Formats: sequence, C-alpha cells, structure tokens
Amino acid sequence: MRRNRSMDVLVEEIAIANNIRKEFPSLRGDEIYLDSGATSLKPRKVIEAVRRYEEEFPANVHRSAYPWAEKATDEYENARKNVAKLLNSKKEEIVFTKNCTEAINLAAFILSKYVNRGDRIIVSILEHHANFLPWMRLCNRKGAEFTVVDVDEEGFLDMDDFQRKLTKNTKIVAITMASNVVGTVPPIKDIVKLAKDKGAFVVLDGAQYVPHHRVNVGSLGADFIAFSGHKLFGPSGTGVLWGRKDILDEGEPLLLGGSMIKEVYIDGFEMADPPTRYETGTPNIGGIIGLGAAVEFVESIGYDFIERYEKKLVRYLYDSLKSVEGVEVYGPPPEHRTSLVAFNIRGVHPHDVAWYLGLEGIMVRSGGHCAHPLHRRLSIPFNQSVRASLSVFNTPEDIDRLIDALYKVKRSFKV
Ligand SMILES: Cc1ncc(COP(=O)(O)O)c(C=O)c1O
Repeated sequence: MRRNRSMDVLVEEIAIANNIRKEFPSLRGDEIYLDSGATSLKPRKVIEAVRRYEEEFPANVHRSAYPWAEKATDEYENARKNVAKLLNSKKEEIVFTKNCTEAINLAAFILSKYVNRGDRIIVSILEHHANFLPWMRLCNRKGAEFTVVDVDEEGFLDMDDFQRKLTKNTKIVAITMASNVVGTVPPIKDIVKLAKDKGAFVVLDGAQYVPHHRVNVGSLGADFIAFSGHKLFGPSGTGVLWGRKDILDEGEPLLLGGSMIKEVYIDGFEMADPPTRYETGTPNIGGIIGLGAAVEFVESIGYDFIERYEKKLVRYLYDSLKSVEGVEVYGPPPEHRTSLVAFNIRGVHPHDVAWYLGLEGIMVRSGGHCAHPLHRRLSIPFNQSVRASLSVFNTPEDIDRLIDALYKVKRSFKV
C-alpha cells in the first residue's frame, strides 16, 4: 500500500475511526464513502431514534395532550436543546428547517424588511448557490446592489477586495464558513468584526463547517448561521437556522398557516413567539428527533477528535492527490481548508472519473457542486470537478484506495 510521506495519522486514531465506521449500517462491506459533503451517512443511533419515533410515539407535536403527543413534543424539543448546546446558544434561537437552503432563504426573508433601494448586500464568489441566489433576488426586488467579493487563484478570499466593497451602505454580508468546492475557510472572525463595524447584518453559511468544527455563536458575533442537519449525521430533510433572538423576535415567517400563530381573527392574526413562528405546519418530526441523536453522536466523539483527525486526513488526501501526475487540485493548502478536496484528472470529464470510481466502490461527487460562478472564476475545465469529502469514519486506507483507482482511470483513458 502506498504511503505518502506526509501521513502523520496515528495508529490509535485510525483504530478510533474504524470503530466509528462500525456505527454506520450502510457501510456493510468495503465501500469507500467520500461524499459526506453532499450528505453524511447516518449512524445507528440516529436511525434508531427515527425508528423509535415512527414506531412507538408517532404523533404530531405541539398540538395534543395524550402521551404519544407529549412524548413526541418532548423529544422534538430535546433535539432543539441539543442543537442549542452544540452551538452554545439559547434554544429559542434554533429554528428547524428542511435543509440549509431553506434556512438561508428564511434568513433572507427575515432581513428583507431592512433592505432598501441603494443598499448593498455582499456575498463572495466562494458561495454555494444557496447563499448566492436568495441575496441576488433580494437585491433585484429591492433595487439594492448585489456585490461579490473575489478570491485569488488559490481560492483564498480576497480580504482587500472585501474591505474595498464593504461600504457604509452595506446592509448584509452573507459569507460561507467553508467552501464546498475549494474547502477554503475564510477568516470569519475578521469578516464579522469588519461587517459589524459598518453596521451590517452577518449571515454565515455553515453547511460545510459545522459538521467538522465547533462553533460558538456567542463569541462569533454573527446574526444568523445556517447549516444542514443531514450533513451532520442527521436524517435527510433536516436543517437549522440559528438566529439572534432580537432579530427573530422582529421577523416574519416564510410560510403562514398552522403552528406559527398565537391567535387568528377574521381580519388578522397574532404570530407565535420564535422559534415556533418559523416552523409553520407539521415539521419533519422523526427527522428532527434523529438530528437530536446526531448531535449526541457528534458530542460523543467530540469536536476535538473530529478536528484533529480530519485535519491530518485532509492533508493526506491533498498531498496524495497532488502526487498523482495529471491531477489538478483546486484550492488552498490543507491547513486553510475544511475536510474536502476538489480535483480533476486532466483530459477526463469529472463525471467519467466519478462513474469509474463508483465501479470500484468509491463514492465521490462530480459536477458544478452548485457553485458555478466559482468554477468559472478559477477556470476549472468543464466548469466542473470531482470532490472527495471526508468524515471522521474515513481512514488513510480509503484515500490510498482512491488514489489507486485514479491510476486505473488514467490507464483506462490513456492520460
Ligand atoms: C456550502 C453549502 N451551502 C449550502 C448548501 C445547501 O445545503 P442543503 O442541501 O442542505 O440545502 C450546501 C450543500 O451542499 C453547501 O455545501
């Protein structure tokens, strides 16, 4: 087995990762899952929590007084407590959504009333479309300026460009905490401070960050943080919007109907307090209860281990890919990125690479990764790339198998 010289993962750490791997029933054989950036696999504990809800107390929440309904409501609200603890926030500040996209759209809707003609909203070219298009539309509707901060050729956010564009008419700064393509982790604390000095709201897209790094919303100073529960070992159809209590108190929900009201009259209505105000209709109850279990799963491993281990793993992935002739790797060096690497084999379409790897039991994502402007900005061939994204159950051996398979692809395509 090939071992790159930069491999500094400890044997004990690999043993822990292998034990964690056993918690995932979908990993039955020798599958190599390198697509946790798209959605994470679900550990047994999460699947069990969803099963328990659906089989043992499958009632609606916040409505009825019989024991199943009370149990369902308790477990649902427990999930909120777990997420709040994870982020060191108040539980009233945690709004459950169906994914990160909905969470960002909700933040944009809540903030829309503060945006006027001539104001500016800043995003970056690193953004996933989920943190790009809602702000573009808001600007188009309000006659505000949609302003995009550039990156350099390595995928680092251009902080001079940010500071130049951060004018006093800037109302909102919406920035990713980690790019889903080049993995860049921008200097979020600096960005928040600079934006706040100008009086702007700050919305952070934590979809690729929260599953890998601890976030303390109190010390971060942002106004909203959105992320996907389903990328954090939670069930599909789960997402979270953390929002500052005073802003949530003043905001309106995206959807009107059941649950979000205190009282309805024939000529008006009173809204419920947050977070219920923002969770209109029957939520994804089993999914959210599963997300509560997912948070316990993360806490049981601990962010300390996740960060330390994945940092070494992503370095190994990056160095291993770099060592293959004809492979182009995009983005900054591993010490500046989260747990993923996008690349191409020169002369081979990324879908062909991903399809071939799939035949070898290796699951990666290929395509534009919902980040078309970034692919274009970095002149990435085909405007698409292959992305290997890691989780705490992956091992250096998974990466060795990926690299071996890439050599096979090269041989097959004679490149
Ligand atoms: C950085 C980033 N933001 C937002 C999203 C959207 O997440 P979701 O699919 O949960 O809406 C993704 C998904 O890949 C992402 O990587």
